[in-house]
Amino acid sequence: MSIQTVGTTPFPGQRPGTSGLRKKVTVFQQPHYLENFVQSVFDTLGDCGGKTLVLGGDGRYHNRVAVQTILRMAAAHGFAKVLVGQGGILSTPAVSCVIRKRGALGGIVLSASHNPGGADGDFGIKYNIANGGPAPESITEAIYQHTGNIKQYRISDAADIDLNRIGAARIEAMEVEVIDSVADYAELMQELFDFDAIRKLFAGGFRMCFDGMHAVSGPYAKAIIEGQLGAPAGTVINAVPLEDFGGHHPDPNPVNAAELIALMDADNAPDFGAASDGDGDRNMIVGRKFAVTPSDSLAVLAANATVAPGYRKGLAGIARSMPTSRAADRVAEALGIPCFETPTGWKFFGNLLDAGKATLCGEESYGTGSDHIREKDGVWAVLFWLNLLAATGKSVEELVSAHWQRFGRNYYSRHDYEAVDTKAANELMASLRIKLATLAGQDLGHYVVDFADDFEYTDPVDGSVSKQQGIRIVMTNGSRIVFRLSGTGTEGATLRVYLERYEPDPKYHHLPTQQALSALILIAEQVAGIADWTGRAHPTVTT
Ligand code: G6P
Ligand code: ZN
Repeated sequence: MSIQTVGTTPFPGQRPGTSGLRKKVTVFQQPHYLENFVQSVFDTLGDCGGKTLVLGGDGRYHNRVAVQTILRMAAAHGFAKVLVGQGGILSTPAVSCVIRKRGALGGIVLSASHNPGGADGDFGIKYNIANGGPAPESITEAIYQHTGNIKQYRISDAADIDLNRIGAARIEAMEVEVIDSVADYAELMQELFDFDAIRKLFAGGFRMCFDGMHAVSGPYAKAIIEGQLGAPAGTVINAVPLEDFGGHHPDPNPVNAAELIALMDADNAPDFGAASDGDGDRNMIVGRKFAVTPSDSLAVLAANATVAPGYRKGLAGIARSMPTSRAADRVAEALGIPCFETPTGWKFFGNLLDAGKATLCGEESYGTGSDHIREKDGVWAVLFWLNLLAATGKSVEELVSAHWQRFGRNYYSRHDYEAVDTKAANELMASLRIKLATLAGQDLGHYVVDFADDFEYTDPVDGSVSKQQGIRIVMTNGSRIVFRLSGTGTEGATLRVYLERYEPDPKYHHLPTQQALSALILIAEQVAGIADWTGRAHPTVTT
């Protein structure tokens, strides 16, 4: 066993996006591709001597190969210890939890989140820092700079270690501890939620379906919901992580989790449905014949947070990404606490959470979380809802309807135009930007523009500025249209159009969402010329 120095040359395009470096598996399979990126991460970190690293992924194709490579490289960089999930499995929230709990320098998450897996699918790698959260842009940019200048990397030539067996092994002088993927995380959940009340709920015949989508959250949901909370066996479906996610798209939205939606729409539907994504950080909440939007979910949890023991003392503040609906803002106002509006990307919540300015955070993209870790957290959100259902005895629909009665309803939908031509998408955004100055005050039929801008964020903690984070057209009555290009896609560009209409009157709280938003949908088309630029008359996905 010895440490080798291997000559290499840069690969273009190793710049981490919204959430790490994501490429096709075939790209990652090129000799030196992963190694170059990992070397650049370690070069950015500097001296790793004596430090601990956490490592795991969502079990997708290439996960195990990548884990072995990274272990060998960590050993060549002087890490004292790597904590790796059994079988190479750790959900993104579990990595965050373990980093914090074990005082690690940071962690590496191997995942392309909700992107399809398998030999032809996507793979990804992301570095998280000591607070458990995604590395901030200053670090991801430094990593990118290193990838452009790389000449060599260091790696041990040690044999593979057995990832299936919990316990300690060694590569060079470094200890590798294979840990139970669920244990630390489950312990944290017990501190936050009233497990006794949820146990009673299940004992009383409450029925639930959790769709693991053959991705990483299955083992967590099974151990906690069936194992610790006593839900009947079979409550968690598609529970075993598969390398190709069973050929499905592990993205919990009503389109991709069609099996769950059909089940929840049936006459004998369970009381509660939920799903998570590839790496376990997203969540979808569904009641009987009733889907909850992520924006509403955040607002409802915030309004009722004190039912959960971990949040009994109340919230310091709420944070949401800019395109997320403003339902949470109304709750914050009622609670007399601040509501922060950040760019898309969970990393922007990190400083607010670290500074104790926000307790709950959420995004329209099916992400919800809190200051318990520094990632969004799918199973956590589901347990929070279970705690809420147990504490109130109400149904999901009753809870959400009562919320709308009290705060008004923010009708909300996102229209995605996937895999459009990148140049056309950029031109669409550029032409919108040119129009911005002329929009304020315009009557667009049903709506008058209050202001239109390109969202810019100044981090209230470190003062860093992020520009061009999405175009907002905000109407005088609080309705909004937001245009953004996705930062996570791997094929062409994805245009996201976010539509939001505020409706205070309970008489109008039960319209079909697309109907309620129809006038805004027309305006979005008129203002941006979506069909002209993209050649698409309709979105590919509507959530
Ligand atoms: C990931 C990030 C989220 C983000 C989502 C959508 O899940 O962690 O923070 O909201 O992707 O990002 P996108 O740039 O594709 O809209
Ligand atoms: Zn994810």
